[in-house]
Amino acid sequence: MRGIKIIGTGMYMPDTVASNDWFSTILDTNDEWIYSRTGIRERRISETEPNWSMSSKAAKAAVENSGIDPSEIDLVLAATCSPDYFYPAMSCIVQQQVGAVNAAAFDINSACTGFINALDTASRFLQDDDYRNILIVAGERLAPHCDYTDRTASILFGDGAAAAVVTKNSKPMYSYLSAKGDYFNALYCKVDQSRANCPLLKPDSLPEGIINTEAKTHFMQMNGKAVYKFAVDAMETAVNKVLAKAGLTTADIDLYIPHQANSRIIESAVKNLKLPPEKVYVNVEKHGNTSSACIPTCLAELGDKIKEGMRICLVGFGAGLTSGAIVFTQ
Ligand code: COA
Repeated sequence: MRGIKIIGTGMYMPDTVASNDWFSTILDTNDEWIYSRTGIRERRISETEPNWSMSSKAAKAAVENSGIDPSEIDLVLAATCSPDYFYPAMSCIVQQQVGAVNAAAFDINSACTGFINALDTASRFLQDDDYRNILIVAGERLAPHCDYTDRTASILFGDGAAAAVVTKNSKPMYSYLSAKGDYFNALYCKVDQSRANCPLLKPDSLPEGIINTEAKTHFMQMNGKAVYKFAVDAMETAVNKVLAKAGLTTADIDLYIPHQANSRIIESAVKNLKLPPEKVYVNVEKHGNTSSACIPTCLAELGDKIKEGMRICLVGFGAGLTSGAIVFTQ
């Protein structure tokens, strides 16, 4: 039986606040439109700090909070869709920064579902005697990939990092993971190969589906309406599937932590699932969508409010299109 216990959390947000009012100085938008459609008031932008640095700070805070020595970490998993390097994996840099000298390390990219997939992976490693403590860090620096002339998408996203140290637990954990690659072009960011200099290379074909100008192909492309519809359905399905696996009902859960993309998406899913809103943690107003970092940021903000024996449901969705939910007892 799989089980995980969170023994430490940490987070790091860059200093620069990009408020809705700031967006109204660069785009034809305003606080009323953004807040009423998304629930977001502000998000952080990392002006100069790379993702690995933000992620390492969050990871160090989580390890310190856990009370274990960095040498006791057996695996570092980094969830990110905005690494600073193709390679090495960001987890290797975090491993070095944290001093997790005995740990293996690899990255997981399932965009905003990254922390869910990483926690699920961690729980499977923890079934092995060789793995006792796993550091999961989720960090994103999305600002370089967003098009700040696109008022529909750029207003949604923020930068930041958060981490959790997890260990074995005899209390069971359940997960449901899904991917719908048919919809990959609803949300994507293409690798920029425009500076390649192999004389044989020609421009490769672009994904169909989103109207794109050649000049902007390296920015995030999003079909907001398609993602919105998917997100509400995916959250409902993932929660129902994981609860069915666990033999639980929605009332058996003490705390729900959804991916923080948009408060309207969360409210619709909460309504459809008939969840008590007071059990659902929402912080999208101050951070926006930090992709994989959203859920661990909630965990870090909750801190000591996450008590032993609490039954927690995490649910997320993102590019892929991916989705998933985890139920565990702390
Ligand atoms: N400010 C003012 N007007 C804006 C605007 C902004 N920031 N963004 C879009 N608009 C305008 C549009 O141009 C459009 O104008 P028009 O009717 O004159 O053409 C109008 O508002 C409605 O646009 P629409 O795209 O239909 O808005 P929406 O209600 O679908 O909201 C999103 C747009 C992006 C907020 C919403 O679709 C959404 O949240 N989707 C999910 C995205 C997401 O979560 N992605 C990450 C997943 S991990």
